[in-house]
Amino acid sequence: MMTIGLLGTGYLGLVHGVGLANFGMKIICTDIDHQKLDLLNEGTIPFYEPDLHNHMERAIQAGFITFSNNIKLMIESSKVIFITVGTPTTENGEADLSFVEEAAHMIAAYMNEDKVVVIKSTVPVGSTRLIEQTMIDHLATRGVKFRVEIVFNPEFLSEGTAVQDMLLPKRIVIGSHSLQAKKIMNIIYKKYKERRVPFIYTDFETAEMIKYASNAFLATKISFINEFALLAEKTGANIMDIAQAMGFDPRIGPQYLQPGAGYGGSCFPKDTAAIVSFANHYGEPLHTVKAAIEANERQKVQMVERIANALSPKGSLKGMIISILGLSFKPKTDDIRDAPSVHIIRELLAKGATIRAYCPGGMTKIKLLFKQLEYQIHYCEDEYECVLAADAVVILTEWPQFNTLNLNLIKTSMRGNLWFDLRNQFVNHQTIRKQFDYQPVGLK
Ligand SMILES: NC(=O)c1ccc[n+]([C@@H]2O[C@H](COP(=O)([O-])OP(=O)(O)OC[C@H]3O[C@@H](n4cnc5c(N)ncnc54)[C@H](O)[C@@H]3O)[C@@H](O)[C@H]2O)c1
Repeated sequence: MMTIGLLGTGYLGLVHGVGLANFGMKIICTDIDHQKLDLLNEGTIPFYEPDLHNHMERAIQAGFITFSNNIKLMIESSKVIFITVGTPTTENGEADLSFVEEAAHMIAAYMNEDKVVVIKSTVPVGSTRLIEQTMIDHLATRGVKFRVEIVFNPEFLSEGTAVQDMLLPKRIVIGSHSLQAKKIMNIIYKKYKERRVPFIYTDFETAEMIKYASNAFLATKISFINEFALLAEKTGANIMDIAQAMGFDPRIGPQYLQPGAGYGGSCFPKDTAAIVSFANHYGEPLHTVKAAIEANERQKVQMVERIANALSPKGSLKGMIISILGLSFKPKTDDIRDAPSVHIIRELLAKGATIRAYCPGGMTKIKLLFKQLEYQIHYCEDEYECVLAADAVVILTEWPQFNTLNLNLIKTSMRGNLWFDLRNQFVNHQTIRKQFDYQPVGLK
């Protein structure tokens, strides 16, 4: 049985490792974060992802997955090593490749035979080729003749549906010039072949750009509908009907046409910034992606203005209590990286408001992020504590559990009556519309 190693057990690495283990492969997951590995060895997942726990337990019980801080041993015993480390954004918007570079150096330092190295982290066009050269140079300085066959295999999973996305992806992209590596990838991904997932075999650069083009396109789609939502409000049109009608056209499709407070998360903001910055080096302005980023920033500002103006047209929100429901960048995840909630809470606090916050998934991570502001934000146990004496409720993430709120309890607990539904979760909810001053996005 082929042993596969993984460097990085974050949202991507752990889901991928667990998925491959359940395909019957022997997986060794490693990380430089030993706390994370300790948790995993206790059977605890350090983040929230639906269904992942069951799949992980099954893989552990079958003996197909282990978690180890011995990176050297993992490298020595694995024929194939996936790099699934983070690629955050630097201050000037570029992708920070230092974790990927460090991972590549570790592999080159400990390689004891020919290996296939699969980069799954999102990296700018040209990076895989550079990393390949870095590894070849490193092996040369060691004076060893091992071959390293590199693949760039972008990941398209979405948090919240990551397990399903891993088990049945929409496509597999394999960027490599090595026949041997392609053969091995076909063996690892045999299950996908059986499940008739389309495969695209291409070069490094194309595979790298496929990932950025896909995320930039989806981000643009969101910004597009958000801008039309703002226009619809001014003209009396209904964005929900517009999005539905557009979505029936198969050339457009219904997904990513849900208006809101702007896109967020660990991928769209960082990947759009990175591709624009990268394209600039080539003298290509990528006008559409730049516009999508600008529209996204404006959307968040508009949402803050909307709340502030409704509560206090003169500006200051001193003495106002705003209840934020939903902090994660989308439902069914605890990820708050670049979530609209982060910007909106900061701005509302700056305007003097008191914030009460509750999220079924994002509480731990938002507390950590806002450590400095712990006296200005009241973190609540549930939705009902969150709305106590509130002047306004703001829905920022459409968690399914909000669908069954006890509205009478909320009504009597609140001081005010404003209900900002920035995800249009309740546009068809007649009681909320009747009992509250209901303010959705993009329609009356
Ligand atoms: N999160 C997603 O939904 C998603 C989807 C598609 C692609 N991606 C891409 O996958 C990559 C990882 O994203 P993520 O969300 O999983 O990040 P993450 O921050 O959750 O996880 C990265 C992990 O890598 C570890 N790490 C860093 N350097 C290491 C090293 N040298 N050796 C071993 N481990 C190391 C970190 O400790 C961390 O646990 C990014 O490039 C991202 O753009 C993420």
